[in-house]
Formats: sequence, structure tokens, C-alpha cells
Amino acid sequence: MAFRTIEWRDDAVVMLDQTRLPAEEIYNRYTDFTSVAEAIRGMVVRGAPAIGVAAAMGIALGAREIVADTAESFFRQLENVCQVIGRTRPTAVNLFWAIDRMKRVAEAARGGSLEDIRTALRREAILIEQEDLAICKAIGQNGAELIPHGATVLTHCNAGGLATAGYGTALGVIRAAQEAGKNIRVFADETRPWLQGARLTAWELMKDGIPVTLIADNMAGFFMAKGEITCCVVGADRIAANGDTANKIGTYTVAVLAREHGIPFYVAAPVSTLDLSCSDGSRIPIEERPSTEVTHIRGLPIAPEGIGVRNPSFDVTPARYITAIITEKGVVRGDFSSQLAALGGA
Ligand code: MRU
Repeated sequence: MAFRTIEWRDDAVVMLDQTRLPAEEIYNRYTDFTSVAEAIRGMVVRGAPAIGVAAAMGIALGAREIVADTAESFFRQLENVCQVIGRTRPTAVNLFWAIDRMKRVAEAARGGSLEDIRTALRREAILIEQEDLAICKAIGQNGAELIPHGATVLTHCNAGGLATAGYGTALGVIRAAQEAGKNIRVFADETRPWLQGARLTAWELMKDGIPVTLIADNMAGFFMAKGEITCCVVGADRIAANGDTANKIGTYTVAVLAREHGIPFYVAAPVSTLDLSCSDGSRIPIEERPSTEVTHIRGLPIAPEGIGVRNPSFDVTPARYITAIITEKGVVRGDFSSQLAALGGA
């Protein structure tokens, strides 16, 4: 990749600041867990799998910061670190998946010295990052088979290298199809209000030389009706047991439009995005973000002061609109419930 989303380097977490893209390519260095938590909340790092990696690395930093005489004191403080990180963003289940995984690693190392536990946590965080890259490649391989030669693929938000340890989920499918010589074109929804499509998807696909056309969100139906879109591929923040899928606000609209026009609608996500404890999408917590994301662009007001605003950051696409869910373990279609249960979560 031409950039590194997140990495553990010299006992610190280094993240590409996604709030500054595409104007500036700046890498921030974090040495304490509270500033990593703030970076997750403030969208320096975003996208479900990348949030999971950041959470794990934040916990590894937090474990290093703990001063404790006993294992009990250490674990009490580690629980606080996990809670602070767990309060950052509610929808992407990868955050909670990573926290649980880190807690299990700490428990398994409990018999050893505090330094052993800290080392185990650091190693696990780096492993989660490395695994995510391999998982994205596998998702890409599995999904590329579904993309016809010469396809124009519509995507929403950014489910790319910037949203993962690299390569991406939805953009991983597009990259793998391109690498297979399929001559793909991409239409990127701009993705109001935070503009992940315009600022991030457009940026990373252009860097890779993959042909990409930017459209405003309200143009998707126009291009579908004209027959210019072959299929849609998006990422996911949480997939319920029945296949209902939470993803960036506006995804549901794209899925309904795709159904109306008979266009396949694919969700690409790692198994760590499955939440089998959520029976259906109505149980997925939806983050509401600050109103200024809607009323302002780059600090400039675009609406009258004092206007009432709603800003749900995600919506839920009912499973019936989803043609297939592409995971690293294979492609699921038809009866999602039984097949997702068989995948079993990560
Ligand atoms: O608010 P964001 O930018 O974190 O939302 C990101 C998305 O909705 C992505 O599509 C999703 O996390 C999948 S990323 C591989």
C-alpha cells in the first residue's frame, strides 16, 4: 500500500490522520491510551476493522501505563482502560471484539509477571493488525469472483485500506478484481456528512490508479436508472445474526435503489464484524454524532445557526436487500441465519 493506516512503531501507535485527508498526509504518534481513545472518537482512525486494531493497540499502551503492586490492581486498572476505549464509538462491533480478545489474552497471561502480561498484550495487538491485512486479502479473493469483467462498481463510504490494516474489505474486492485484470471502474458516493467517499475512497483509489468517479449521494439512482452501475459493494460495521447489516448512513438507501434496478448489492466484511448476539438489526446501537458535522463543512457554516439537526452515523440494511455477504471464510447467500451461525463469529 502507498500508505500505512495504523502501526505499532517504537513503542508507540502511529496513525495516518484521516481528519486531514486528502489535503494533508500527516502521521500522528500516540503514546498513551486516552489519546488513542480520543483519536478513535475524533475519527483520526475510522472504519470498523481499523477501529478494532486501534482499540487493541490502545489497550497495549494502557497496560504499559499502569503502575501496580499486585495483579489485582493491574487487572482493575486494565478494566478501566478497556472501558474508556469501549466508550468511544458504539456501532462497529470490531471495537468490542478487539477489547474482548485483549482481555482474554491478559487473563491467559495472569500467572506470569506484569511485564509478561504487557508483552503478551503488545504482541496480540500487532497480531490483530497483521491478521486483518491477511483477512482483507482473503475477502478480496472471495469477492473478486462476483465482479464481472468491465464492471462499474458503486461503493459507499470508505471500506478501504484506510478503514482496515490495509487493502480493505469492499475496496479489497475491487482491488482483487482489478489485480485479476477485470478492468473495473468505481463510482464513489461522496458520503455526507463526513465525506468518507470524497475524501478517503477517492484518495486511496486514485493513489492505486483504479479509475474512480466521484458522485454526490443523491446521484446513485440516476446512474443506476441509466444502466451505468453493474453492482454495489459496501463494508459493514456490524452484521446481526439474521444478516441485517449496519453500515455508514446512506447504505440502506443505496441497497433499496439497487433492488429497484435489479443490481446485485454485496456486503464485504470480516467474520469479526458478525454479532451473533444481535438477533436482528433493530438491536444494533446506532451512533449519533455531533450536529456540526451536518451544519458545517471544514468549519464553514452551510445552514442557519440554531437549526435543529439529526446525525445518525449508520443505518441498517435489512438482509432481504443483500445479495451476498463476502467474508474471509467464503461467500454467504440465501439463508443468512444458518450460514452466519456456521461461521460462528471470530
Ligand atoms: O464512521 P466511519 O467512517 O467509521 O464508518 C465506516 C463505515 O461505515 C465502513 O463502511 C465500515 O466501517 C466498514 S470498513 C471496512
